[in-house]
Amino acid sequence: MDKIKLKANAKINLTLDVLGKRPDGYHELEMIMHGITLSDTVTISKISSPRIELKTNLGFLPTDGRNLAHKAASYMIENFEIDGGVDIGIVKKIPVAAGLAGGSADCAAVIKGMNEIFELKLSLRDMMDIGLNFGSDVPYCIMGKTALAKGRGEILESIETKLKLHIVLVKPHFSVSTAEVYRGLNLSEVKSRPQTAEALKSVMSGDVLGVCSNLCNVLETYTLKKHPSLLEVKKELKNNGAINALMSGSGPTVFGIFESKETACAAADALREINPKRTVIYCESEI
Ligand code: C5P
Repeated sequence: MDKIKLKANAKINLTLDVLGKRPDGYHELEMIMHGITLSDTVTISKISSPRIELKTNLGFLPTDGRNLAHKAASYMIENFEIDGGVDIGIVKKIPVAAGLAGGSADCAAVIKGMNEIFELKLSLRDMMDIGLNFGSDVPYCIMGKTALAKGRGEILESIETKLKLHIVLVKPHFSVSTAEVYRGLNLSEVKSRPQTAEALKSVMSGDVLGVCSNLCNVLETYTLKKHPSLLEVKKELKNNGAINALMSGSGPTVFGIFESKETACAAADALREINPKRTVIYCESEI
């Protein structure tokens, strides 16, 4: 096989708890990651010259060693003594720097895709370990679907579920830096913490209302204070029928969960009309 085309799915966090700061500078986390149908498309082709050619449909994205997908490709070439190089094409639909793990998903797709086309025979565990070199969310993106993540985000337990959520994502026109959010988070200011065990039960039994009543993200403490407009977005989602709404990851994307595709799409239309500058996307759980 000389070429492979993969979907790189985005995620939302149904819960995100920060348990404390670690000696290595990272934070100890406990979170429920949930894959969604919104995805980028990553195409990888073998080329004979020892180069990495990366192209994306977004002109502002770096296509050199600053891009996680490029970094992963050079790691694979160096560590697995691959002759030649790769041509990588990424069609991005996942908003960038949005709390949806778009860059991590593309990076994960490169590791999985190169494992296939170069027949490296790496296990899922091997690929997840490699992925951690490029970011805390990459091991999850290699695993995909629904998972309980601990540690930096790399200690993962896959969660079997038939949970099907109807989701509207709202990505405001600004972005936030994950490092800044973790740096600025003051744990003594956190008012509510997720009930992760309760939330997990609801996820496993496919109980949408239970999931909605347990949505909680500790990083909202920092990002919502810095960007109070996100509180308005949460209100708008709820005023337009969302059962509940939450920020994903370190933000700034806010998602609402709806009873049906119809109510979600109607809300998405209404939110686009209120402010056409932001990105509003309907998607579902990745099953
Ligand atoms: O791992 P990743 O490079 O995606 O993380 C970006 C930044 O987010 C890190 O440099 C760190 O500041 C912060 N972070 C953290 N604890 C985690 C994950 C990320 O403090 N578990």
